[in-house]
Amino acid sequence: MNSPLSSATPRVYTPVSELHLHAEHLQAQSLSDLLGSGSTAAQQRANALAFTFGSLHIDFSKQRLTTKTLMLLKDWAESCGLAAKRQALFAGAKVNTSERRAALHVAARWPSSETPPEGMESAAAFCQHQRKRMAEMVERVHSGKWYGATGQAITDIVHIGVGGSDLGPKLVSEALADRPSSAKVNVHYVSTMDGAQLLPLMECLNPATTLLVLASKSFTTADTQFNVRTALAWLSHALEVDEATVCCHQLIGVSSKPEKMTEFGVPEAQQLVFKEWIGGRFSLWSPIGISVAMQLGVVCFDALLEGAHAMDKHFLHTPIEENLPALVALVGAWNSQFLNIPTHAVLPYDGRLKSLPAYLQQLEMESNGKSVGLDGRSVTHATCPILWGDVGPNGQHAFYQLLHQGVHTVSADFVAVAQRAGVGCEKINRSLKAQEQLTLAHCLAQSQLFALGDDAIPQALRGLMAQGYRGNQPNSVVLLKTLDAWSIGALLALYEHKVFVQSVLWNLNPFDQPGVELGKRLATSLYQTLADEPVEYQNVEDPSTAQLLHKVNEWRK
Ligand code: F6P
Repeated sequence: MNSPLSSATPRVYTPVSELHLHAEHLQAQSLSDLLGSGSTAAQQRANALAFTFGSLHIDFSKQRLTTKTLMLLKDWAESCGLAAKRQALFAGAKVNTSERRAALHVAARWPSSETPPEGMESAAAFCQHQRKRMAEMVERVHSGKWYGATGQAITDIVHIGVGGSDLGPKLVSEALADRPSSAKVNVHYVSTMDGAQLLPLMECLNPATTLLVLASKSFTTADTQFNVRTALAWLSHALEVDEATVCCHQLIGVSSKPEKMTEFGVPEAQQLVFKEWIGGRFSLWSPIGISVAMQLGVVCFDALLEGAHAMDKHFLHTPIEENLPALVALVGAWNSQFLNIPTHAVLPYDGRLKSLPAYLQQLEMESNGKSVGLDGRSVTHATCPILWGDVGPNGQHAFYQLLHQGVHTVSADFVAVAQRAGVGCEKINRSLKAQEQLTLAHCLAQSQLFALGDDAIPQALRGLMAQGYRGNQPNSVVLLKTLDAWSIGALLALYEHKVFVQSVLWNLNPFDQPGVELGKRLATSLYQTLADEPVEYQNVEDPSTAQLLHKVNEWRK
């Protein structure tokens, strides 16, 4: 006998349609319903949604999901061909289709002691060779044998770069060189195109002992070129030598364009090269990271690469259901595409990670901030959310009010560090330990409050303390055992692979950034307009910009 349902049109099962239905079901529950309290099932759910890899622990239990959600998300990833695409990434396939090149940042951290996957061999060998050259330069500076134009040893590095040529090294420097005593030389980062970061350095650094690092993959980025020109003018003027002499003694170039470095005047022996197949925002591991090695030593830089490499191997070999980058990506895509949450906050509970939000903004938004798929068609769903954030405890005194009682739903990553090294003095250590404890307590309390709202208050006090906290802000806690080079390497590689997995789910090319180009071209023509005498702003068609140019020129006269 036919079942009564057999005549109905069969529902077409796709992982995506299934996920939409499942999302509707979960939206009807509160996060406190999902988290439950005290029951064995609730505890089992919390345990099943927490994962540890090395010194990283990630807890997804305050996300709006169940173990069933993870299974459905896994089906989705499989149906998108994640395993084969992951393999292709590591084998050097041309995954960056618009620019017809591979994306082999993983080769930059492949150790010489391990055989690389088939397809990556020559890339890994090239990176290892450049790493060796970089280590020699670092050693020359550390041993006091790198002399400036007037014969003095180097004490300070000014790293000039922007975007991917700045954010990664700066983040690692801030995280690991938090105490001046840990630095072998002083490193200063300059990125803003207006020269505002250079001016104070030119006032306080000794020009005779300052080495410039010009970090630019394309070697054409105006921000960096203009900063370097100003820095060279300063050194030349202060040391009373010409700029070519300054370049010979006090300039290192890092780029994928050796011919442009030579044309600029960077001596070949002071050029470090990485290839086109390492994207700017994935380039920390290449010689772009030289200033980290200068500041903290090659051993520390190697530990950073080791952490990233360990995460690479975990990502490459672990099944999706236990694969940390895949899980972080799937949970992120779940929030944005199925739960329609448009923004994602990155909230580090450690001042040393203050640049993590900015770093992840570039990594994620420049990669997957796109609306046209690899098939050339417009996507019909949300892709990368807007990322934003700040040091969590400072945010508590600024924007958390809106998150607790405003109208917007956000998702968040809380990032915390379990223990930090002390200092020599017992009394100070006790006080620092208390601060560490306080910070962790705040991190956990806020994560709880985000998810549960008023329900985070213990039952007995609820009547007294309930104040209309909305809760239902899904969040993950990323816990690092300590903030060391290995852990940061692993953490950043985790987020890199998150970006890749999401690009697979959304069928995007995460390795190009065509949307940033037009702005540069428009600025170039406006730059001419501003430089012209007499002013030619009448050519600017848009009346708003025309009147602004008029005012700017009036005030600059
Ligand atoms: O903003 C666009 C961008 O091309 C980024 O992708 C890149 O990291 C940054 O500019 C700097 O580029 P470069 O290293 O070529 O100077």
